[in-house]
Amino acid sequence: YSTLVHPNLTSHLTPVSEHDISHFASFLVPTSVISTLSPSSSPPDELDQYNNDWIGRFHGRSTTVLKPKTTQEVSEILKWCNEKRIGVVPQGGNTGLVGGSVPVNNEVILSLSNLNKVRSFDPVSGILVADAGCILQSLTDYVAPHNHIMPIDLGAKGSCQIGGNVATNAGGLRLLRYGSLHGTVLGLEVVLPDGTILDQLTTLRKDNTGYDLKQLFIGAEGTLGVITGVSILTPPAPQASNNVILALPSFDNVLPLYQTVKRQLSEILSAFEFIDRTAYNLAVKHGQGRALSDEDVKGAECFVLVETSGGRREHDEEKLNDLLELLLTADKPLVNTGVLSQSPAQFSSLWALREGVTEAISKEGKAYKYDISVPLSSFKDVVDNTREHLRSQGLLHDKAVKFVLGYGHVGDGNLHLNIVADAYLPEIENALEPYIYEVVASHRGSISAEHGIGAMKTHALSYSKSDVSIQLMKKIKDVFDPKGIMNPGKPIFQDDHGLAVK
Ligand code: FAD
Ligand code: MLT
Ligand code: ZN
Repeated sequence: YSTLVHPNLTSHLTPVSEHDISHFASFLVPTSVISTLSPSSSPPDELDQYNNDWIGRFHGRSTTVLKPKTTQEVSEILKWCNEKRIGVVPQGGNTGLVGGSVPVNNEVILSLSNLNKVRSFDPVSGILVADAGCILQSLTDYVAPHNHIMPIDLGAKGSCQIGGNVATNAGGLRLLRYGSLHGTVLGLEVVLPDGTILDQLTTLRKDNTGYDLKQLFIGAEGTLGVITGVSILTPPAPQASNNVILALPSFDNVLPLYQTVKRQLSEILSAFEFIDRTAYNLAVKHGQGRALSDEDVKGAECFVLVETSGGRREHDEEKLNDLLELLLTADKPLVNTGVLSQSPAQFSSLWALREGVTEAISKEGKAYKYDISVPLSSFKDVVDNTREHLRSQGLLHDKAVKFVLGYGHVGDGNLHLNIVADAYLPEIENALEPYIYEVVASHRGSISAEHGIGAMKTHALSYSKSDVSIQLMKKIKDVFDPKGIMNPGKPIFQDDHGLAVK
């Protein structure tokens, strides 16, 4: 069951034909064309990994995946598709969580995975220039010997690509310390829908010469062009990193804890992440990280993972130990206990309890993922009220919703509200929407803090954006992509009747 496939969204487009495939084959190597229409016809299941999204909720019906190796090839593909009005879906690692990376119908999938070379790295400035298809983890490995790290880190790092990260303006686990990609991306190379190459791949820290066009592509989710190169500022690797998991008796303690932690750790605080008890239990159940002892988790309603990154190990450890002592010896302790990592393996294991929640959920069942910005003080109520709402609709039982849980980036005000069910069912979706979006709007929050709009939230954009904003976005889309070939149907481009806005 897939909710959002809507033929109208691509009715202005032409499906790719055998003739088009011959044209692509004239300038791409044979392994760059996977198509059920080609003379050597690829088996349909070869396309499955490209047509289906990571959470198994959104399914395209593309016949053709193109995997160019150069920017010039991307340009040739787009020029042809634009002339013929063929829809194009750029695809990175296909780890997106909102159905943005798979077609809504039978558009061509343009995979960036063969554009995967580092172009340059300057160890003095820390500026890395890389092809968009480089996998995030491989870039982390590339800069590590130079004592640098990527300014972004997320659970999907082994598969997601830097171009996909930029296209979604991914947040992740280091945003608290290093800020968003709007700040760390210094330049982009983008192929526009008509094949024009926009070279803004500068390595300048400062450049106030008119509109900063690259910002438009950061978070555009492939609707304005294909990112082929990224110039990004990588920070020096911290000399020392530590982490601790704190078990809290009540969610009410999260906010005062955050204040205390910020005050005590100040400049060395690098992450403040939250998982509720259900999320913790699922992570442990599915082997993500090592479980804490029974004693440590007794009476814990939720957990907070605190990471420090600083310049001198002894100094950081002293600060962290002082913090723990303060927390545990207070008259009314905010935490039951704290488990401090003592080795790199334990450091990774504690992180896995938080980072592994997404994977654990996907092993447990089908997830409805709501990635919202709401005031910190409302995190728990939003989760609890959603659970009660589903219960009141008779949907909280083994055959429908199994778990409602919350986790996320407290430091960024970003809650991941997940509803885990046995299967994607219309009655669950109808109970969740517009309910959740109305709750978000009542807080003047965001319906998508970091995952984007994709195919999942197109219809809900107005809960977070005014009509004036949406109209301006449509005008921008029209300037870049007047024929509406780029990632059709996402994220905003349908009218009140579900028809594509070209
Ligand atoms: P894809 O999924 O392939 O594509 C995502 C969108 O970007 C699509 O709309 C696609 O058309 C477009 N796109 C991709 N490449 C390009 C390009 N080169 N040019 C133009 N458009 C392009 N997200 C977060 O923000 N924070 C997290 O902490 C986080 N953790 C995650 C953990 C797990 C386990 C998983 C599975 C996902 C997580 N995500 C997270 C979501 C996802 O990984 C990110 O959105 C990621 O940035 C997507 O990168 P990708 O290469 O997989 O892109
Ligand atoms: C996370 O913070 O773990 C990611 O955004 C993925 C998710 O929401 O599951
Ligand atoms: Zn997240």
